[in-house]
Amino acid sequence: MTMTLTGATPGQLGNAGSLDELYKQLSTIDLGPGWAKSSPSLYPEPKRKFPPAIWHYVQAKAALDAAGRLINTELAERRNLILINSGAGSNYGTSSTLVSAYQMIMPGEHARSHRHTPNALRLIVDAEPGTYTVVDGVRLEMLPGDVLLTPNWCWHGHGNDGKANGYWLDFLDVPLVHMLEPMFFEGNPDEYAEGIRPAAPSPMYFPWAETKTRLAAATPEPSGRFGTQIQFGDPAMATTALFMMKLAAGQDTTAYRTTANNLYSPVEGEGETVVDGKSYPWARGDVLVVPSWYPHFHRSEKGAVLFRVSDEPTMSKLGFLREQLQ
Ligand SMILES: [Fe+2]
Repeated sequence: MTMTLTGATPGQLGNAGSLDELYKQLSTIDLGPGWAKSSPSLYPEPKRKFPPAIWHYVQAKAALDAAGRLINTELAERRNLILINSGAGSNYGTSSTLVSAYQMIMPGEHARSHRHTPNALRLIVDAEPGTYTVVDGVRLEMLPGDVLLTPNWCWHGHGNDGKANGYWLDFLDVPLVHMLEPMFFEGNPDEYAEGIRPAAPSPMYFPWAETKTRLAAATPEPSGRFGTQIQFGDPAMATTALFMMKLAAGQDTTAYRTTANNLYSPVEGEGETVVDGKSYPWARGDVLVVPSWYPHFHRSEKGAVLFRVSDEPTMSKLGFLREQLQ
C-alpha cells in the first residue's frame, strides 16, 4: 500500500523562508507551533472556568408541576430539569465533572428502568410513602432527606404508588464521562421492574432517620471546614463522595478552597454560603455549586444540615486534590 501525503510537502516545509510562511504550511498538516500559542496551555493555578451558581427549589418545583401537566413519563425518559451552569458557557453541566437535576414523579407513574456507566445518586426533597426507586431488583423507599445510590451500570427505575408527587435531586458524573468518553446506556427489557423489598440494610440506601442519629452522635470535624460531618460510604461511589454536614447555630465554618467541585443542598434549615466574598442565601432543596478553587464558608443563624456532593475521589485518585485554608 502506498502512503499518500496531503498538505505541504516535505520540500515546502523544509524550505520555509519565514516563520509566517512556516505557520501557513504547518496549518495544512494540522501541526501548531508550541512557542506561538494563542493562549498558554500551562498556568500557575486553576482558571476557574465554571462560576459559582445557585438554584432554588421553590422555582424548580413550580416548573416541575407545570411539566407534570405538559409531559408524561411515557414520553420523557425522565421528567427532570437540569441545573445548567450557563455562566461557564455550558449547555449541560453544573460543574466541570458533575451535573444535578430536579426530578418529579406523579402518583401512578413509572420512570422506565435503565442503566448507564455514569454514577448517579439522588437526594429526596419531598415525597410521601409509595415513592420508590428499584436498584438492581431491590425496591428502596424514597422519603425526604433519604439518599439513594445507583452506581455505574446498576439498573434503576422509579415509581410512585402513593398519593402525592415525589420530588428529588439527581446528581451524576455525566460531564466527567463525556470528557473521558466511556459512555454506555441501555434500557431494561423489564421496563417497569417492580423490585423486591430489601432483606437487609442496602448499601445503596442512606435513610434520613439513620443520618439524623449518626449526626447527633458525631463530633465536630477538627479543621472547622465542615461543621459536624458524616460520610456515606468511603467513598460512596468511585468518582463521587457524599457527606452530610451539620452547621452549628451562629457559627461560621472555616473558609477554604479545594480543587474538588462541591455541590451543596440544604436538607434542613436556612443559611448562606459566602463564595469568594459573595453571599448565596439558601433554603431546603436549593442547590449551590462551588466549583474548583473558590474559597468559601457556610453560616446558619439557627443551624442547618447540608448535603455535600464532591468529586474528591476523582481528584484524589488522579493526584490532583489540593486544599488550602484561607
Ligand atoms: Fe438513570
